[in-house]
Amino acid sequence: MIIDGKKIAKKLRISIAEQVIKLDRKPGLAVILVGDDPASEVYVRNKDNACKEVGFYSEKINKPVDITQTELLSEVERLNKDDKIDGILVQLPLPSHLDANQVIEAINPNKDVDGFHSENVGKLMQNKAYLRPCTPKGVMTMLATTGIDLVGKNCVVVGASNIVGRPMAMELLNAQATVTICNSKTQDLSSKIKQADVVVVAVGKPKMIKGDWIKDGAIVIDVGINRLEDGSLSGDVDFDSAQEKAAWITPVPDGVGPMTIATLLENTLTAYTAREEK
Ligand code: GUN
Repeated sequence: MIIDGKKIAKKLRISIAEQVIKLDRKPGLAVILVGDDPASEVYVRNKDNACKEVGFYSEKINKPVDITQTELLSEVERLNKDDKIDGILVQLPLPSHLDANQVIEAINPNKDVDGFHSENVGKLMQNKAYLRPCTPKGVMTMLATTGIDLVGKNCVVVGASNIVGRPMAMELLNAQATVTICNSKTQDLSSKIKQADVVVVAVGKPKMIKGDWIKDGAIVIDVGINRLEDGSLSGDVDFDSAQEKAAWITPVPDGVGPMTIATLLENTLTAYTAREEK
């Protein structure tokens, strides 16, 4: 069966919009984009549109590719102090002359709707999560829709990035699963995946995971989105062969992608509510 991310994300957005109608002030999200990378521009535009759809206040801030570290930090500082803004997101990757980590650490952790600040990473690691990285949290929402209990399940995460792999592994551990984290140096990856009740793949290599590696009845979550030479999109999983084995599988596109954005809205509403209650 297909885990329909597009449909689950839509339901989540509708639920958020219904909550926003009742609020005196609109939740506000600021998204900073440095430079003009076309893929990042698409992501940022999608985030901005999603904000408008649910009735958020949104600021899309485009900065030139040659912005200095000091200028970018002062922009973050301005947004930290801006009462209209509940969430701040700096689109990654940043140009190589900028120190992304220092920028992330400059964001007020209570406005860190990406969940990338070390304070929020630490809370997730301690199983006291507050603002949680959007893609892994969105995957947990998708897994919940299958009704399958994760306690004691063998979960394999392929990819160990700060944005997806590492927080994904922590989310699954917090759900009391048994978690294996693989990276590009993992030996005999196929044998690890053959053991997995749940596989989450985020590596950025089209169709790398083959259907005959998938255990019968497994759940397969494909975070990858790769543009093929013919212009079509493919995930990191060979969908056609994997769907023969999997009980549940996410498509690409319309799988994890829409969930990341809907979860960003959810996090912004969480940050808003916490600020209003203070
Ligand atoms: N680049 C790719 N994914 C993400 C994300 O979730 N947040 C930010 N800020 N940048 C990204």
